[in-house]
Amino acid sequence: MSQKPSKIHPHEICIKIISEDDDLSKFTSYEKELVDFLQEDALNNQQQKLSVTFLWYYKKQLAGYVSLLNDKINLEGNLKEFFREKDIHYKSLPALKIGRLCTDDKFLKRGLGRLMVQFAIQQANETNNKRAGCRFITLDAKRNLKKELDSIHFYKRMGFNILKERKKGTTPMYLDLKLPNN
Ligand SMILES: CC(C)(COP(=O)(O)OP(=O)(O)OC[C@H]1O[C@@H](n2cnc3c(N)ncnc32)[C@H](O)[C@@H]1OP(=O)(O)O)[C@@H](O)C(=O)NCCC(=O)NCCS
Repeated sequence: MSQKPSKIHPHEICIKIISEDDDLSKFTSYEKELVDFLQEDALNNQQQKLSVTFLWYYKKQLAGYVSLLNDKINLEGNLKEFFREKDIHYKSLPALKIGRLCTDDKFLKRGLGRLMVQFAIQQANETNNKRAGCRFITLDAKRNLKKELDSIHFYKRMGFNILKERKKGTTPMYLDLKLPNN
């Protein structure tokens, strides 16, 4: 029987914002598009003020990254009704978007993905406490035909709901920060 890899603890992680000094060349993922984004677009997008990319180092190895940007959700259907009942009648509400999130293949299933989602929630809550309103975390979950590689199941486990049903490509999802435990 193969042993389960040990979980990574937050104190073993060093988080830094991407810069020219980082060597991104050894980062690998079964989702090639997420490697390409990191190596080709993440720094440029940051310089253009489109997103901020946080690199997660474990024992000096780049083990994961998460890119964040501002977003909004247009209220439609059930979500619109939900807020109407609370006497909230805006057409859209503010959000923080996880633009990209990826764990290096060598570090999968060791708790890093969960820690990076919790980090995004923490950033949004800090924004709420000190700077500007932010009701949701949003993202577009990358779909994969293999269930064990399909990120929608990971995000559902993290408490996210589907915003719009789509079978292929990406599925928009959201987390309501006003719900208990968020
Ligand atoms: C999805 C992804 C981020 C998960 O990262 P990870 O570091 O392996 O996740 P964790 O180890 O923190 O997993 C947290 C929990 O979710 C579960 N989980 C992880 N991936 C899962 C999947 N694809 N389906 C179902 N559950 C999953 C884990 O088993 C774990 O459960 P547990 O808490 O009961 O032990 C990673 O597979 C990845 O980077 N995929 C490629 C890129 C991608 O699809 N990114 C998301 C779209 S932008």
